Amino acid sequence: MSGSRSNDLSQSDLVRQVLAKEWFYSYELPGGERTPTYHNGDLDAIHDTRWLMLERQLQKVFSGRYSHLKAVDLASHQGWFAVKTAQLGFAEVLGIEARQSHVDDSCLIRDVYALQQLQFTQSDIHDVDTLKLGQFDLVLMLGLLYHLENPISALRLCHALCKGLCIIETQIVPGISGVVDYGSYQFVRPLKGSFGLIDETGETHGPEAGVTGICLVPSLEALHWLLLKVGFAEVAVLEPPEDAYEQLRYGKRVMVAAHV
Ligand SMILES: C[S@@+](CC[C@H](N)C(=O)[O-])C[C@H]1O[C@@H](n2cnc3c(N)ncnc32)[C@H](O)[C@@H]1O
Repeated sequence: MSGSRSNDLSQSDLVRQVLAKEWFYSYELPGGERTPTYHNGDLDAIHDTRWLMLERQLQKVFSGRYSHLKAVDLASHQGWFAVKTAQLGFAEVLGIEARQSHVDDSCLIRDVYALQQLQFTQSDIHDVDTLKLGQFDLVLMLGLLYHLENPISALRLCHALCKGLCIIETQIVPGISGVVDYGSYQFVRPLKGSFGLIDETGETHGPEAGVTGICLVPSLEALHWLLLKVGFAEVAVLEPPEDAYEQLRYGKRVMVAAHV
């Protein structure tokens, strides 16, 4: 895991480093400056909508009592949701991210905010040792599922790591329903949802992409059914606010709360 650098660098050195980079997230720094983004602010709305929905659900489930809770953020990118969860008062927050450059950026921003309860580690989520990591009151998997070629094992991982609430936010595809002949026309089975196959193989160098480029994106029915089948007891699709980012507002993406 990556440790703190604040002992070696002054606060103003850290802020200077942060402001010299371009970010996926528009962080407001302790001195009031904002991190420059590489998307001209076009994606601020999706991050803001997702944090608003997440925070609302955390308040509902944990009633603001966070100080004894542990959280893990799967695919933490440059740390936005892990940072915000730590700032909310969670006792321990761990971000796991495949790209080392994102882990380095997350540690930098963590040190600027002096959030000692926040750690980041580099790993493909499929390689994490669940026995070693233990379980968390909150598992976040935001913006990741639809970049994976094995989304079902990712959902199993979420369940294995979770002893409370799991929040999944993902792009979904239109579903196919009905029945199919299964071995014989005399034996039919109902579809429990469907997956869309998306090609990101030309974009695996991109900072937001999956690592293999082969992406299976679930329909909402598939996601709901799978979460129950991997072991969650209760699954609910969260209501976006009226002024939500268009993808969440029009159901192209969803945020789902799953309880063990
Ligand atoms: C669209 S971004 C979402 C980041 C963040 N969770 C959010 O919602 O803003 C996808 C992130 O997943 C990471 N990622 C992709 N495949 C991964 C994998 N197999 N294991 C861990 N991280 C992965 C990428 O590096 C990127 O940071």
